[in-house]
Amino acid sequence: MSSRIAQIRLVSSHPEVYEPCDDSFALVDALLADRKNLLEHQPTLCLELGCGSGYVITSLALIVGQEAHYIATDINPHAVRVARETLEAHGVHAELITTNIASGLEKRLAGLVDVIVVNPPYVPTPEDEVGHEGIASAWAGGENGRSVIDKILPVADNLLSEKGWLYMVTLTENNPSEICLQMKEKGYASRIIVQRLTEEENLQIIKFWRDFDSQLEAKGMVANKTVSSRVMESLLSQFHIMPFLRGSNKQQ
Ligand SMILES: C[S@@+](CC[C@H](N)C(=O)[O-])C[C@H]1O[C@@H](n2cnc3c(N)ncnc32)[C@H](O)[C@@H]1O
Repeated sequence: MSSRIAQIRLVSSHPEVYEPCDDSFALVDALLADRKNLLEHQPTLCLELGCGSGYVITSLALIVGQEAHYIATDINPHAVRVARETLEAHGVHAELITTNIASGLEKRLAGLVDVIVVNPPYVPTPEDEVGHEGIASAWAGGENGRSVIDKILPVADNLLSEKGWLYMVTLTENNPSEICLQMKEKGYASRIIVQRLTEEENLQIIKFWRDFDSQLEAKGMVANKTVSSRVMESLLSQFHIMPFLRGSNKQQ
C-alpha cells in the first residue's frame, strides 16, 4: 500500500494550487504510521479540509479503502478541479466541494465524520493576507499562523463522530501545545504522530480524539489537578524531545 502512495503522481496542476510539499508528505506519513489503527477504526466517512492538489485525500482513500465515503473541500476552485483529476487518475473517488472550511456542510455532516485530515494555512503572516484569492491562501495563516486553524477547530469538533479522529499539521510557531489545550477543554486527547524538522520548518502532525478522561476534566469533574497543568505536563513530555529528532519521524 505504501508503494502505491509513494507513486501518487501530480497528473494535473495549476499555478494557484499548492503542490504537495514537506507538510503534505508529513501528514501522509502520519496516516501511514497510523494505518493499522485507521483500518481497525473502520471509518464510514472521511473528510479533508483544504485538499489542494488532492494528494492527501487520494492517499487516505488508498490507505483506508473505498468502503468509506470521502469528502474534500477547498476554498480555491482550481484546487477542487486538480484534486478531482488526482483522485480519478488513482482510481479512487471523493465528493469535492468548493467552500470555506465546511460551510454549507455542517448540518448535513454534524457528528458523522470518523476521520478529518487537515494541512491548514499555518504560516504566520500579516492578518490581511489571510483568505485572499490565489496561491497565498494556501499558506497565509495570520497572527501566529492561527487564523484559519482557530476557525477549523470548532468546525471539526462539530463534525466529528463520537469515535472521530482529527489529524492536523501544525508549526511550532502556531503554539501547538495551546491548540492541544483548547481541544482538551472540548474533551479531546492528543498525540504527536510525526514530528519533522525541515530546512525551514518544525512541523508536528497531531492526532486528536474524544477521550472520556478529557471530557470529565473539561466538565471540571477531576478534582486534584487543573486541566491546564495536566495538558502542559503531557505535551511537554512530547515536545521536549524534539531537538533529538532532527531528520527523523518519531512515532509517539
Ligand atoms: C497548505 S495547503 C494544503 C493542501 C493539501 N491538503 C496538501 O497537504 O498538499 C492549504 C490548502 O487549504 C486551502 N484553504 C485555505 N483556506 C481555506 C479555507 N478557509 N477553507 C477551505 N480551504 C482553505 C488552500 O486553498 C490550500 O489548498
